[in-house]
Amino acid sequence: MRVAVLASGGGTNLQALLDTCREPAPAQVVVVVSNSPTAGALERARQAKIAAVVLRDHQDGAELAGVLREYRADLVVLAGYLKLVPGEVVAAFRDRIINIHPALLPSFGGKGMYGHRVHEAVLASGATVSGPTVHVVTAAYDRGPIVAQWPVPVRPGDTPDTLAARVLAVEHQLLPAVVLAAARAGGVVRLLAAGPAFTAAPEPAPVGGSVEPAGTIRSQEE
Ligand code: GRF
Repeated sequence: MRVAVLASGGGTNLQALLDTCREPAPAQVVVVVSNSPTAGALERARQAKIAAVVLRDHQDGAELAGVLREYRADLVVLAGYLKLVPGEVVAAFRDRIINIHPALLPSFGGKGMYGHRVHEAVLASGATVSGPTVHVVTAAYDRGPIVAQWPVPVRPGDTPDTLAARVLAVEHQLLPAVVLAAARAGGVVRLLAAGPAFTAAPEPAPVGGSVEPAGTIRSQEE
């Protein structure tokens, strides 16, 4: 499967894909596209000897579709891409564009919800769990069908920075897993959690709970 990655920023998720999707893996990154000439992701592409393309006009659907066709992309991955993908590209690559978002959609998503704003909103809500979501891209920001999610604990004393770092570390595993599964299946497939998703935190639970042995989950009502 030939993968195009769209990125606007530093590109650590791109790097995770570059590290995972190389021969003999069933998926290879063939081009990295950015709206920003200063995106660190472009440099990562060049280091990996992969084509790096800067869009002249990110709103020009014909331009982006042309690049994706030129590189014969089977799958398009938005990895920290901050611009809306033009509708004609979404239509032309229906069910073949995925995005990674750093919170558990459908909460904490939508226009303007990116970067630290997402983690600030999670902390302000009092949620005890966050984590990345991979979803299919549709015409509206962050609203397409969910492909995979990975819960990550919110810890007492978390700041947007500490929570972002914990979620990002998991993103680097989740996104390659989704891409490899798509390559094996010949199209985007939902991933379901298998095995234990939680272990007990070493610190006592904040609301009158007790520390549980690793591998058990207790509900708040118990
Ligand atoms: C990630 O947190 C991703 O979820 C969001 O943008 C960030 C990109 O980080 N969409 P990086 O550029 O991959 O380091």
